[in-house]
Amino acid sequence: MTRFERFSGRSAFVTGAGGGMGLSIARDLADAGCAVTGFDLKARPDGLGEGDTPVAYVRGDLTDEAAVGRAIDDLFSRHGRLDYLVNAAGILLFGKDRSAAEIDLALWDRVMAVNLKSVVHTCRHAIPRMRQGGGGAMVHIATIQCLRGDPAPQDAYQASKAGVTALSKSLAVQLAGDGIRSNVVHPGPTLSPMQRRWQEDPRAAARVAEQIPLGRLGTPADISRAALFLLSDEASFITGAELIVDGGLMALP
Ligand SMILES: NC(=O)c1ccc[n+]([C@@H]2O[C@H](COP(=O)([O-])OP(=O)(O)OC[C@H]3O[C@@H](n4cnc5c(N)ncnc54)[C@H](O)[C@@H]3O)[C@@H](O)[C@H]2O)c1
Repeated sequence: MTRFERFSGRSAFVTGAGGGMGLSIARDLADAGCAVTGFDLKARPDGLGEGDTPVAYVRGDLTDEAAVGRAIDDLFSRHGRLDYLVNAAGILLFGKDRSAAEIDLALWDRVMAVNLKSVVHTCRHAIPRMRQGGGGAMVHIATIQCLRGDPAPQDAYQASKAGVTALSKSLAVQLAGDGIRSNVVHPGPTLSPMQRRWQEDPRAAARVAEQIPLGRLGTPADISRAALFLLSDEASFITGAELIVDGGLMALP
């Protein structure tokens, strides 16, 4: 089996497939033969699903548990199996997300609902389907920002992603007996629509890149390759893990 056939006959639910990392993961899974269903607030990106493997796409809000449940039920009725769950959707409310000492609490709740509770929504609908198929794998996209403090705090974002990381470990232990693995990818600074400020200001991007040992910002493709590895059977003994994909930033003293 070539690298590009390794997901054929399997099916995946990918959140955040409307842009950035989720889109890259959805495309790469489809290119590897997987039947992908993407879910995002945004409209279907141009070109998604025009390769050999069609991609289903649901436009919806992950904070709406019923909508998530319908999308996963529909996927299951079409494919009869759910092998993979990728939680890549997320929000970072630049400027408004700040110290817990002063953050607007409605904003805190919003970030928790999108970044953390939506992962509960996808997991509670995906897990029974994975069990029905005898196993599966999940990857949740967190961030290196939940592994450290920041003098310019984004406390809701950081805490929500720490919650995702803890949830992943708990699920890994709970579900190991069902053959379901759960892992986290922690991206460093990555060029995506979320970070359009770096596309608009190349000098600011260069300043961030300079701080990264490998000398560049990450790309959605970098994160996708890590996610696909963790989903794949090549990672069959890896669960409850955190994979940092940051060009070496977190290895700095
Ligand atoms: N870009 C970075 O530098 C970076 C670094 C570390 C972690 N991350 C994380 O990686 C993940 C992917 O981020 P990205 O950089 O690709 O960002 P992105 O903004 O390009 O993609 C995130 C997607 O999530 C979708 N989304 C947001 N709220 C939603 C909701 N309520 N329901 C459905 N869809 C919703 C958005 O529409 C968007 O398409 C996020 O969880 C983000 O927090 C990003």
